[in-house]
Amino acid sequence: MGDKTCDSATLTVDGHTVSLPMMTGSEGERAVDIRHLRRETGVITYDPGFANTGDCTSDITYIDGEHGVLRYRGYDVEDLADHCEFVEVAYLLVHGSLPNAQQKAEYSRLLNLHSLIHEDMVHFFAHYPDRAHPMAVLSAMVVSLSSFYPELGENRREDIDMTVTRLLSKLRTIAAFSYKKSLGEPIVYPRHDMKYCENFLNMMFNSPVVKDPVNPVLADALNQLLILHADHEQNCSSSVVRAVGSADANLYASISAGICALWGPLHGGANQHVIEMLQDIRANGGKVDRAIERAKNRDDSFRLMGFGHRVYKSYDPRARVAKKICKSVMAALNRQDPLLDIAQELEAKALADPYFQERNLYPNVDFYTGLTYRQMGIPTDMLTVMFAIGRLPGWIAQWLELRSEGEPKIARPRQIYTGPGLRTVVPIEERP
Ligand code: SDX
Repeated sequence: MGDKTCDSATLTVDGHTVSLPMMTGSEGERAVDIRHLRRETGVITYDPGFANTGDCTSDITYIDGEHGVLRYRGYDVEDLADHCEFVEVAYLLVHGSLPNAQQKAEYSRLLNLHSLIHEDMVHFFAHYPDRAHPMAVLSAMVVSLSSFYPELGENRREDIDMTVTRLLSKLRTIAAFSYKKSLGEPIVYPRHDMKYCENFLNMMFNSPVVKDPVNPVLADALNQLLILHADHEQNCSSSVVRAVGSADANLYASISAGICALWGPLHGGANQHVIEMLQDIRANGGKVDRAIERAKNRDDSFRLMGFGHRVYKSYDPRARVAKKICKSVMAALNRQDPLLDIAQELEAKALADPYFQERNLYPNVDFYTGLTYRQMGIPTDMLTVMFAIGRLPGWIAQWLELRSEGEPKIARPRQIYTGPGLRTVVPIEERP
């Protein structure tokens, strides 16, 4: 196979040798280009879960899983979380550079312009059962946006900004309205005098009779958490958004599919399951050893939720920042949370355990984020909705990048067939 210096790899199949070109990314990662493999050898590759397979080149996000590095358009995620607003990072992901003051002001104007949803959509909420999962509502409402706002424009910058800010603003509004409806409370409309995160918390927790000022500690923490979630290269939901977009489906349909993929407990749904796991541990006397032993038992389907990652074989940099945010919010609000104590004990014991060490299992983005959202009052079943609000600009940037390369190539993996050979239909009365 190719070494660092050579620009091709050699493969011999059934005595026939082919030379396959090598690709090298801007940070030095290497790939064997197998685009012509089947034509030249008659065989395909086999890689369930695509752990060894890239399906695109991308300029958006870089992850070094061995060293715990995450950069959006070249900026380290912690640098962005410390110095930017989520809206600036959304602009960066979509446009490739941070906005100047004028571009940011225009983005904020468009976010306000698009912050409402069509009043006919507001009635949709009344017909969901109270126990409807917020991710089900979110996905359905987003694909319904395509009925109310069918125009997506072309790929001109002003069309892109209109489409992006419309989705960013309306997703936040849909999430808050859905929560209010689940409580049976009147919805709180967005306000043009509030910034993105403050507006969301106001819509979520104020009401026609409660006009409390939004706590700036929580608004700032939300801003940082949304930045931590904003993109993560070709994760499951981003791959789904690209796959649906590759069929020439519209952006709303693609994002709605991404929301459904994110809902999975192995993916973004893990943040809800982390809190439920910590609550279970607390309800059973707070003994973390039992959870550790269950996670190690191959006969037990239990997994340590918020631990492990396909790419990070070191500490997820987002988990490190999320833990810091959680502890600073607790200190600022002078609060304690027994679930944080349990989470830290669980982390310490897992990281000291050979089972987790041998498999390079560390806390991932979902391990600490829910604990901070709890301090904001976000209900557990809405935690993955918060992940979706943060990930939206990343999904959009990935979809736009796929579409910017001309006619997208439809995503259509091959397979190795292992089913029965040819069979002939027997009349039903003769079947055993
Ligand atoms: C996200 O891809 C992304 O970038 C995703 C994400 C993003 O920003 O988009 O980072 C967000 O989805 C984070 C992950 C959230 N999910 C969880 O926290 C669920 C718990 N984690 C696991 O289910 C698992 O770690 C995955 C799904 C995250 C990764 O699975 P992989 O890469 O397919 O790894 P694997 O299942 O093959 O595990 C390898 C070994 C296995 O043991 P052995 O067969 O070698 O004995 O590690 C074990 C697994 O059993 N293992 C765990 C474990 N995770 C892996 N054992 C116990 N607890 C766990 N959490």
